[in-house]
Amino acid sequence: MVNKFILPEKISPPIIAHRGASHLAPENTLAAFRMAHVSGARWVEFDVMMAACGELIVFHDRTLERTTFATGDVSDFAYEYLSTLDAGSWFDPIFRDEKIPRLTEVLNLLSHYKMAANIEIKASQGNDVEIAHKIFQVVNAWQSRHPIPLFFSSFSVLALETMRQISSEVSLALLLDQWCDEGPETLERLNCHYLSLRQEDITSETLQSVKLTQKKILAWTVNEPARAAQLFDWGVHAVFTDVPEVLIAKMA
Ligand code: G3P
Ligand code: MG
Repeated sequence: MVNKFILPEKISPPIIAHRGASHLAPENTLAAFRMAHVSGARWVEFDVMMAACGELIVFHDRTLERTTFATGDVSDFAYEYLSTLDAGSWFDPIFRDEKIPRLTEVLNLLSHYKMAANIEIKASQGNDVEIAHKIFQVVNAWQSRHPIPLFFSSFSVLALETMRQISSEVSLALLLDQWCDEGPETLERLNCHYLSLRQEDITSETLQSVKLTQKKILAWTVNEPARAAQLFDWGVHAVFTDVPEVLIAKMA
């Protein structure tokens, strides 16, 4: 059987648009992913949550207030309501028609542009196992029809464990706020492809010990070209950035 989840050897260019091109358009909206494409990025990162009705949506915060004019916990509302919200005006009124997209809408756009994705699983209220199952179901069906290169990441070890139990083929990234003693064991046990670290905490010494795990390292969120260059020099595989247009222009 064909593995629908094979990744290219390299993320190239080594720039992942964090929540889309999130300094040019409201994060995690279709506009942000279109702007990432226009910026020359081939890869985007986005956050997937589950609405009360079970629909998978692309949204970052636990609550609605920062990026919509509504209030309350995202997971308390059905998609029928969430889909009516203005998810763009907070960024700029010209984006007032941007909505909270469904996962399938984002996959559709990325397939159209032949882009690749890091799908971050945002578990909440103990739904780690359920959301991993649902995301796999949707993405697996998608990959049968319009495959794109993709991998899953999460701060939730339980969500990653669930993904790994469902499929030995998916590529996983462990997200860590800080490199810790349990890191190597978790990476091995989950057979992770990548380790994704907060860039502020990365030093050349950290990277020496991480390199012993032989995992590819990703760093977030890197908006300064000089810092990106330093991290690449140290062997970081790719960086997440809010400004793909800036980093890609510098690398050209
Ligand atoms: O995947 C890197 C980064 O997106 C993780 O943090 O809070 O931006 O989802 P956050
Ligand atoms: Mg994220």
